[in-house]
Amino acid sequence: KKIIRYLMSRKHELLNLMNIDTSWIKNIPNDKMDLSNFNNLELEAKNCHACSLSNTRNNVVFGKGSQKAKILIIGEAPGKDEDLSGEPFVGRAGKLLNEILFSMKLSRDNVYITNTVKCRPPENRNPNSDEINSCSRFLDRQISLISPNIIILLGKVAAERLMNTSEPMSSLRGKVHFYKNTDIPMLVFYHPAYLLRSPSEKSKVWDDILLMKSITHGS
Ligand code: URA
Repeated sequence: KKIIRYLMSRKHELLNLMNIDTSWIKNIPNDKMDLSNFNNLELEAKNCHACSLSNTRNNVVFGKGSQKAKILIIGEAPGKDEDLSGEPFVGRAGKLLNEILFSMKLSRDNVYITNTVKCRPPENRNPNSDEINSCSRFLDRQISLISPNIIILLGKVAAERLMNTSEPMSSLRGKVHFYKNTDIPMLVFYHPAYLLRSPSEKSKVWDDILLMKSITHGS
């Protein structure tokens, strides 16, 4: 009985080790409480050399926040500040993200923040599809382990990665999408770095926030 209980508690981890995709399982009630799985995954990412970004990184930026978060925020890729500190969104874009969280009455402690790739692309270029694909097993497992109630995608790179689409931001924002075959809603927000470059668009964040509130509070 003990062995069966043990295997059941690690079923997602074991299936993933056998390269079996478990992300299609609805609402993955999974190993959410087993934090050692999450810590092992982080350790694995920290030792990853699956793509050439590992040659130029200072730190792997795995993600930060509550592993039991109901809200998962996914950005693009670490920048210089993140590469140096090992934490996501600590630069200027991160400060704006903090403000956006604050206006949603949230803080970094009650969300989990990560990126589509965990290492900084040189010169802050967009991660290419090989890099995104190499890193996807980490992001997929993070989503599976956290099992959030809602996913917020910051910008086009994250939206393209999670939705496999090349539609423009204008048609992705303001709608409720769903993560793979689950009923986990996903919203696309402007990336804070884009808002810093285009301050006139900042007011549109309110529309994004209202849509999120309407989903999370049902009002
Ligand atoms: N931009 C991102 O997309 N992610 C970070 O972690 C920092 C800046």
